[in-house]
Amino acid sequence: MAIILPIASGKGGVGKSVFAINCAVALAKLGKTTVLIDLDLGASNLHTLLGIKNRYPGIGNLINRTETCLEALLIETDILRLFFIPGDTLLPGTANIDFFTKQKIMKSITNLPADYILLDLGAGSSYNTVDFFLTSSSGCIVTMGESTAILNAYSFLKTVFYRTLIRSFPPKGPERQVISNFFAQKMEGTSNTSSVLKKTLLENFGENAQQAISVVERLYPRIVLNMGTGPHDLGVGIKLREIAKKNLELNVEYIGYIPWDSSVSASVTARKPAILLQPDSPFAQAIQAIAGRLISEPIPTMPHLYPDNEDLKAVYLS
Ligand SMILES: Nc1ncnc2c1ncn2[C@@H]1O[C@H](COP(=O)(O)OP(=O)(O)OP(=O)(O)O)[C@@H](O)[C@H]1O
Ligand SMILES: [Mg+2]
Repeated sequence: MAIILPIASGKGGVGKSVFAINCAVALAKLGKTTVLIDLDLGASNLHTLLGIKNRYPGIGNLINRTETCLEALLIETDILRLFFIPGDTLLPGTANIDFFTKQKIMKSITNLPADYILLDLGAGSSYNTVDFFLTSSSGCIVTMGESTAILNAYSFLKTVFYRTLIRSFPPKGPERQVISNFFAQKMEGTSNTSSVLKKTLLENFGENAQQAISVVERLYPRIVLNMGTGPHDLGVGIKLREIAKKNLELNVEYIGYIPWDSSVSASVTARKPAILLQPDSPFAQAIQAIAGRLISEPIPTMPHLYPDNEDLKAVYLS
């Protein structure tokens, strides 16, 4: 079965798409059949970065049912073993999809014949994005070193925590009610909200709660620090990992530091991945190191999550 690698970020413009493309090329070059899917619905632009014309059907066609087979959307790229599925540029207006369509897409994705499937997701913590992120237990969260990007990356991790917990209980059950009430009355001034919530669930729902908590504990998101400009940025990923552990009791891995590199903007203009344009640049070396780590480290299987058709009104996360 293919390894799915969703790529998300709390803040926009931090380099998700650049990371997704270059990492996909690196994996293909390491001998892995790789599929890159543009799931930034409403803002798909990966085809541009790959130099592929905007004329192929994509995920938008699955959503509006003009195509029923995900495999039929696969486009061969110029790079051996790398395939691409466009987003919804030909069919704008598909950004808001219901849970069951989302689930159908995710199921088709898991069945694609490949070694790696990379999902370039939209920025932010919307439930659409977070549900796509939860196709894997170990998706990547790209961030920059600046404080707003880090805060948004942390918010994303919080939403991942709460969304996983909610979806670890069956829909319409009393457990979900307790969790959503907890959001609504978020305990101000308490930093370790996750342990308070877990305790409440365990007291009320015993064995079921224990099982749901173990699902959350199997998550292992990975942080990528992009556009680093020096030693001060090097520690950012470590700090984020520590805060997630302390406040959310979430295990987060810091998988790599990618420096700011002028070859990247040149590659965007040339419509060719930077790793191919300047294979010896510091940027290319960092991406290769990350791809190597992705291959060598096993990814725990994502436990089953229940569906959710009634998204929580809002998550009070800050
Ligand atoms: N390591 C890097 N060095 C220099 N520039 C970079 C680097 N990574 C990304 N960029 C630049 O940052 C900009 C944003 O990158 P990208 O489009 O990949 O971000 P994104 O997170 O996908 O954005 P969005 O949220 O809009 O989808 C691009 O102009 C790209 O050239
Ligand atoms: Mg992008």
